[in-house]
Amino acid sequence: MDNIVLIGFMGTGKTAVGRNLARLLDYKFVDTDEQVEIATGLPVAQVCRKYGQIRFRSEEALVVKKFCRQKGQIIATGGDLILHADNLQLLKENGYLVLLQVEPEVVYKRVSRKNNRPLLGKKVDLPTIEQLMEERKNTYLQAADLVVDANHLSLEEIAQRIIKGYEEAKKKNAEGK
Ligand code: S3P
Repeated sequence: MDNIVLIGFMGTGKTAVGRNLARLLDYKFVDTDEQVEIATGLPVAQVCRKYGQIRFRSEEALVVKKFCRQKGQIIATGGDLILHADNLQLLKENGYLVLLQVEPEVVYKRVSRKNNRPLLGKKVDLPTIEQLMEERKNTYLQAADLVVDANHLSLEEIAQRIIKGYEEAKKKNAEGK
């Protein structure tokens, strides 16, 4: 349990929460979307547009392989990343997975402000978001070690909940050994 991995739908605050957590714990911050952009030299939306979703997914998988065995990291994942079983397994082996949840309306507001998310493409309407969130909900929940309802919490409060859960899980882990 050497890393904290933030999972959840786009627009749930994984990057903002992750940066804050990294600062508080003095961990390295890794954002998988950003790593794909570094590797390809293109914004995520363009990687998909230019090379297609399959290329994007394989770039994501390479990022997971590169970082999953390192320690002391907060890893913010792209919304689809842990929906792929290999990625999930690798991240689980070495990480404490935290699911951030917010209401579809909040996601809609955030995503429609700046729609650079290839999956939603041009169709950024609430029903599409609701449907996608529903489709993914169970996979996210099953993967998570901790679920944080982030609707009415500040970044600071979210970080404190995660740190508490993480410390407790590490302690339990150590006792079990
Ligand atoms: C995606 C979410 C995005 C990005 C890509 C695909 C998705 O990341 O990886 O657009 O399918 O949910 P964020 O969750 O960081 O927005």
